[in-house]
Amino acid sequence: MSAFAPKNYRPETRLVHAGIQRSEFKEISEALFLTQAYIYDSAEECEARFSGKIPGYVYSRYSNPTMSMFEQRMAALEGAEAARSTATGMAAVTAALMGQVKAGDHVVAAKALFGSCRYVIEDWLGRFGVTSTLVDGADLKQWKNAVTKNTKVFFMETPTNPTLEVYDIAAVADIAHDAGAKLTVDNVFATPLYQSPLALGADCVVYSATKHIDGQGRVLGGVILGSEKFIMDHVHQVIRQTGPSLSPFNAWVLLKGLETLSVRVERQTKTAGLVADALAGHDKISRLIYPGRKDHPQADVVATQMKAGSTLVAFEVKGGKEGAFRFLNGLKLVGITNNLGDAKSLITHPTTTTHQRLTPAQRAELGIGDGLVRFSAGLEHPDDLIEDLLTALEKV
Ligand SMILES: Cc1ncc(COP(=O)(O)O)c(C=O)c1O
Repeated sequence: MSAFAPKNYRPETRLVHAGIQRSEFKEISEALFLTQAYIYDSAEECEARFSGKIPGYVYSRYSNPTMSMFEQRMAALEGAEAARSTATGMAAVTAALMGQVKAGDHVVAAKALFGSCRYVIEDWLGRFGVTSTLVDGADLKQWKNAVTKNTKVFFMETPTNPTLEVYDIAAVADIAHDAGAKLTVDNVFATPLYQSPLALGADCVVYSATKHIDGQGRVLGGVILGSEKFIMDHVHQVIRQTGPSLSPFNAWVLLKGLETLSVRVERQTKTAGLVADALAGHDKISRLIYPGRKDHPQADVVATQMKAGSTLVAFEVKGGKEGAFRFLNGLKLVGITNNLGDAKSLITHPTTTTHQRLTPAQRAELGIGDGLVRFSAGLEHPDDLIEDLLTALEKV
């Protein structure tokens, strides 16, 4: 096996080459190692591999060459020392959080969260004696005021799902560190190409690889990244002993997804910007949020923290749920779904899907109106998409 992970190459090059381990057959494409376990030449070698005295794979719940290639490629892209892959994005979020806390600890998180992340923090961690405070992520004073002597973890996603708010990672990381806590950032909406939380001071980054990293609607996956120490102290044992692991097959699909990530995300961002500009000010839309536009509520943070806008656009269709449903049912090309980051353009109605569990008051507090929809740009021609969206708006 030979490794190839040059640190000085640009992200596009790392996405194609980093982390590759070639077998003696010198295959071009990354090999898929569909194996659960490994054979040893002797009982002594088996003992030494198990104790870690000699390196090598032991069991695919926690190490497999295809998983390693995916983890190393992600680490090279993110500028992280270490990574661990998981079966889904939620497995990554849950393992990263559970690995950092014990009963009696406290978590501070921005309240604008993907529904399942909010469930894990508020309900799931609560079952094990971990308390939490949810704050307005854009208000630095609220992060500071929420700290208690038991605060161990700060958590945010930025841009947020679905309202695309953007929070100041460096400022929140400073508050976390002053409090003796660590910051974990869910970077799904930014992608590793547009925002680098570790470089901004975060301690841990998590992804749902199900979104842009696969990008073609095939497999679920997740990844947790940080320093070698962070991963060994907080993540390694959780994954190894509890087993929320990525399958080698899915790791292989995700590796192939990474090869085309930059081309897809660049094109999808350009399309999302064109869609935002075509819909802004439309008389059937009361509000439009796009991190690439000057009228974004945190445009100054976007400018300093992100390399480009987003592949997503959120907008509020007039007429509440009824108006939004008329619009969605009028679409011919854009698919109604709860997913995002795909080659196919997709649209989501958060109130009835991803954020259904929240009360109407909680949704109102987050700016998730009944008419809000989240558009995820695909790879179609932008003019076809704009035509489809404008035609469907006529039905409202
Ligand atoms: C911001 C964010 N985090 C985490 C997840 C969970 O990812 P997965 O569906 O791969 O478990 C999602 C899924 O939509 C998401 O949007």
